[in-house]
Amino acid sequence: MKPKAVVLKAAMLPLLLLWCFVAVDGGREEFPGVGPLLVTKESRRTVVSTASGEITAVDVRDGYGGAYHLQFITMAPSSLFLPVLLHTDMVFYVQSGSGRVTYIEEDENEETEHIDVVRGDIYRLEKGSIFYVQSHPDPTRDNLRIHAIFNAVDTDNTKAELPAAAYSNISDLVGGFEDKVLQMGFGVSEETILAIKWVEKPPSIVPFPHTSKTVSFGALRGIRSLAADDEEVTNKKKTKAFNFFEAKPDVENCYGWSTALSHKDLKALKGSNFGAFMVNLSRSSMMGPYWNPKATEIAIVIQGRGMVEAVCIGKPSGETKFKATEGDVVVVPRLHPVTQMSYNDEGFILVGFSSLVGKNRPQFFAGKRSALRTLDREVMATVFNVPTAIVENLLAARVESTILACTSCAEELEGKMKEGSKGEEQPEEDDDEEREAWKVDEEARREADASNASLNVLSSMLWE
Ligand SMILES: *[C@@H]1O[C@H](CO)[C@@H](O)[C@H](O)[C@H]1NC(C)=O
Ligand SMILES: *[C@@H]1O[C@H](CO)[C@@H](O)[C@H](O)[C@H]1NC(C)=O
Ligand SMILES: *[C@@H]1O[C@H](CO)[C@@H](O)[C@H](O)[C@H]1NC(C)=O
Repeated sequence: MKPKAVVLKAAMLPLLLLWCFVAVDGGREEFPGVGPLLVTKESRRTVVSTASGEITAVDVRDGYGGAYHLQFITMAPSSLFLPVLLHTDMVFYVQSGSGRVTYIEEDENEETEHIDVVRGDIYRLEKGSIFYVQSHPDPTRDNLRIHAIFNAVDTDNTKAELPAAAYSNISDLVGGFEDKVLQMGFGVSEETILAIKWVEKPPSIVPFPHTSKTVSFGALRGIRSLAADDEEVTNKKKTKAFNFFEAKPDVENCYGWSTALSHKDLKALKGSNFGAFMVNLSRSSMMGPYWNPKATEIAIVIQGRGMVEAVCIGKPSGETKFKATEGDVVVVPRLHPVTQMSYNDEGFILVGFSSLVGKNRPQFFAGKRSALRTLDREVMATVFNVPTAIVENLLAARVESTILACTSCAEELEGKMKEGSKGEEQPEEDDDEEREAWKVDEEARREADASNASLNVLSSMLWE
């Protein structure tokens, strides 16, 4: 460990990206409890597939007792997603199209409410709610595509178990009772009950030609978008959802933008342990290395492609890098340092959900907001066994923003990944080796102390 090496590495710091992802289970039984860090679009499983729509799903774990179920719901125009009873909270993002979500929440007075949703919206429905979805009837519109997350955070810190399903069919709920019970309960004839119970049940998504009542839905949102410039305030009040494309980003510069939201920005998130975020990296850019002290990020690539690098805490030399493309799910467990970068020829856009275990503020390694800058320089110099000047240099706040230029970073990282994977044993055959999932050493990670972890990470950046 020669100081000379430190200087070199410190100079390269903006190029070194750190980032660790959470494990995802989708069809990867070989890693029980902790799955791969990346779940590709190809490995989603199909739940429902009809002429009117499709539902695919992925399950993810964070190694800290959190388990999450993701569903990707696609509905052709004029379709109906039949009513279901939610077993867990559901937060969803509207990827394309528009439609109406109608729901009854248990604390409301048994009246249905609805929300008209458009691309970019985030909304949350509470567990115990009944809801259904209608896509916009206009056949020229895009399919309504919804990315939803359902949580199953265990309360007793043992292994998280997802409920058998995220929701139940209304017909299954009703049909579960004995005929006689239903007959008495509803006060109807046996024939009525038999008629209900013994006909074939439709799939979850069915065609639903619009009626005069439904034809106008979405109009409000249409007007709002068109009139947004003139009547921004009045119109925004009419919508209850948060829209990423209408909000002012938290960080924005020519390298991209990012927005995070919590219950402060969206009332519907109140009482939920979810937040949401979107990151739009322009070409040749990167999100500076950071970690989340109290949140696990479960992100979906919605456009483009990029590289992700993560550091596995408790295992300082354990870092992973992988390429993520549209439709892939990337999980970054709490405390794991991570960074994302785009290629020179394409942007990289992610929408994600953060599962919060407390108030979370992402901690950045470098730049003005660096968490490490607040530590005593002599202590830091001792940590790394280098002169104070080197630490001063390392931590000087050269970088203004959290989103930075990073020309050819993704390309170089991908090159390193390919080099590295040649030497490593492959745990399974995978025809796309560059997208090889990474196994997290859960035991080691759990043991890692947070503050120690951040120092370990920095030291691995410097000495690796
Ligand atoms: C809902 O209904 C369909 C059709 O009967 C059935 O295949 C499915 O398993 C049911 N349950 C859920 C949770 O979708
Ligand atoms: C992402 O950012 C680029 C420019 O940085 C912009 O052209 C593009 O429209 C943005 N994409 C979205 C979906 O906002
Ligand atoms: C901090 O991390 C180092 C490197 O992994 C390890 O050797 C050490 O025991 C850790 N200390 C604590 C207090 O966890």
